[in-house]
Amino acid sequence: MDTMTFTKIIGGFCGALLIFLLGNWAAETLYHVGPSGHGEEHAAGYEIAVDVEEEDAGEEEEVDFAALVAAADSAKGEKVFGKCKACHKLEDGANGTGPHLFGVVDRAVGSVAGYGYSGALVAVADVWDADHLNGFLANPKSYAPGTKMGFAGLKNVDDRANLVAYLATIGN
Ligand code: HEC
Repeated sequence: MDTMTFTKIIGGFCGALLIFLLGNWAAETLYHVGPSGHGEEHAAGYEIAVDVEEEDAGEEEEVDFAALVAAADSAKGEKVFGKCKACHKLEDGANGTGPHLFGVVDRAVGSVAGYGYSGALVAVADVWDADHLNGFLANPKSYAPGTKMGFAGLKNVDDRANLVAYLATIGN
């Protein structure tokens, strides 16, 4: 292309940019001189931004647990399972105080035949996917009010991720 065409293109682009910047400036100016004053308007705008961020953080947390499980250490999870052994066995059909946990990851909630569940678990979950296990094992009583699982919970998210990774190796 010749120099003139090139200059015209650049000129057109600069013009568009200038109009865009002026438009922005005008919008900002109108916004800031609203009736309720500059400070408040500004604060309201900011709060909305924070809310959005928090929502994003919540979603990230869920995604993160799956990522944690994917990167987890199932050998460490086997040690964490020591806290469950008093009540749970891993052999298919071997129920104790709690139902057996053979293939529990992605198993239907409350589905072990012949085990007398409280009914509290099916009220809050349908399948023991990683996210439900994460929530339940963090704090069984608050996740499934009325559950008869007498266990305080695993406060450490890495413990839960390692444990879920370990349980996924049993019968899945
Ligand atoms: C003091 C005994 C006890 C301990 C310790 C315990 N549980 Fe439980 N668990 C139970 C009982 C009882 C139930 C049945 C709860 C109900 O029906 O409300 C249960 C239910 C479950 C279920 C639901 C199974 C299903 O078939 O729906 C899972 C999953 C589970 N426990 C995992 C664990 C893990 C993992 C640990 C260790 C971090 C653990 N539990 C520690 C007693 C225990």
